Amino acid sequence: MEQNQDRLKDIISHAKEYGFVFPSSEIYDGLAATYDYGQLGAELKNNIKTYWWKAMVQLHENIVGIDAAIFMHPTTWKASGHVDAFNDPLIDNKDSKKRYRADVLLEEHIEKIRIKIDKEVEKARTRFGEEFSEDQFIATNPNVLRNQEKIDSIEARMKYALEANDLEGVRQLILDLDIACPISGSKNWTEVRQFNLMFSTELGSVAGDASTIYLRPETAQGIFVNFLNVQKSGRMKIPFGIAQIGKAFRNEIVARQFIFRMREFEQMEMQFFVRPGQEMEWYGYWKELRTKWHKNLGLGDSNYRFHDHLKLAHYANAACDIEFNFPMGFKELEGIHSRTDFDLKQHEKYSGKKLQYFDPELNESYIPYVIETSVGLDRLFLAVMSAALKNEILEDGSERTVLQIPPVLAPYKAAVLPLVKKDGLPEKAREIQKALQREFNVQYDEKDAIGRRYRRQDSIGTPFSITIDHQTLENNTVTIRNRDTMQQERVAVSQISTIIAREASWKSILEKL
Ligand code: GAP
Repeated sequence: MEQNQDRLKDIISHAKEYGFVFPSSEIYDGLAATYDYGQLGAELKNNIKTYWWKAMVQLHENIVGIDAAIFMHPTTWKASGHVDAFNDPLIDNKDSKKRYRADVLLEEHIEKIRIKIDKEVEKARTRFGEEFSEDQFIATNPNVLRNQEKIDSIEARMKYALEANDLEGVRQLILDLDIACPISGSKNWTEVRQFNLMFSTELGSVAGDASTIYLRPETAQGIFVNFLNVQKSGRMKIPFGIAQIGKAFRNEIVARQFIFRMREFEQMEMQFFVRPGQEMEWYGYWKELRTKWHKNLGLGDSNYRFHDHLKLAHYANAACDIEFNFPMGFKELEGIHSRTDFDLKQHEKYSGKKLQYFDPELNESYIPYVIETSVGLDRLFLAVMSAALKNEILEDGSERTVLQIPPVLAPYKAAVLPLVKKDGLPEKAREIQKALQREFNVQYDEKDAIGRRYRRQDSIGTPFSITIDHQTLENNTVTIRNRDTMQQERVAVSQISTIIAREASWKSILEKL
């Protein structure tokens, strides 16, 4: 745990030092849980968005993208259920005065038991060596079985209490499990209360209920209210999807863990409209495809796992998370939800407008069912940074810090470095930079010794460093250094772009999907 906290701290300080993420309004001592993306962070974020947009919209002829307003008619949120049901169950510790999400306290308790099971499995793996069968061990070992039973029983009670909105039951479970406040260590808990997560503000100069509007807590509703506009103007046929990237706002009680949980964040969401009755098939399809999309980034397959929701949101009939192994442990990265026809039906009811699709093959009209994929852009950013940041001890005993960001996402694809600042090398380097920058974001750097410049590029994740030396002037060749292997290769100037494109072009990653 201690070690994980240190790891997160390392990521936060690296992100700040190299211009990826700054605390917001830092000169005024910052604003809690609010961050600004710096010059390299903005590049990385844009690249993540592009990877998502291209995979969703460009690779699917039946998916189109929109960009809806953050402000929406207030009835939207009444219809969607957010005014009445977008709540978190909160509990306060009377001694530390700290506020927690009751469900999170329970999930963290479950996670501790899960870690015990994992440790037991790892111990046995070391003991039995090659003959070890994990499935058999999990099915038969008494300690594992006992702990799994504990998890199942807690999960069942939690699901029952949350679904029935039995807040006293949630509190009782916390007491029965002896869960203590991590700050005060005491079990002196208040009642559990529901707290609405939407931020509200007032429109124009009129005060009162009529002018109260909300900052959207999810981008999805901008898609639902435009369902018919897009379907008609785009002549879309079911099944089809609408994608969107944009800001969302939630008054999170416990906003912490850097950019993992913020009050202002960005989502990349896609609503896929299908025939009623076919939603489970599409749910499975999108679960698989989204997992493939994540793994395709090469952050390590074992860093992902699924988590089926115990308590379904008010709109869903099935839901799961793709979790990532963040420095704080496995946590939600993306949600995949089967939202039924809930949203469109509600908007039809509240707006009085028909939101149906005429299916020419069935010769009938219906309200489509929806599968939603929803990934947090900031969380993906944190996942990339946490998998990428490495401190390596090299063969000669020296250390280096390297950000092994997937090349397509790297802020700069290459650095152009004249070996020395004289003899016409800077001029030649500028020429190469100019040719490359039409295709890739590249950085020119002539300051300091070449070794230090390489390290600087390692620290910001640049996959290639191109060095222009005296030989370049003679035969138009350069050395190209690979960030990860640190190997250098002498290549013709005319080959540089092909070498970079092989690993860092959109084509290179999209063709693996
Ligand atoms: N439209 C469905 C929806 O909003 P969600 O599971 O509440 O579902 C989707 O959110 C994703 O948005 C999450 O998986 C997470 O990546 C991201 N997200 C949610 N709340 C967040 C927060 N406070 N800060 C950063 N990202 C958040």
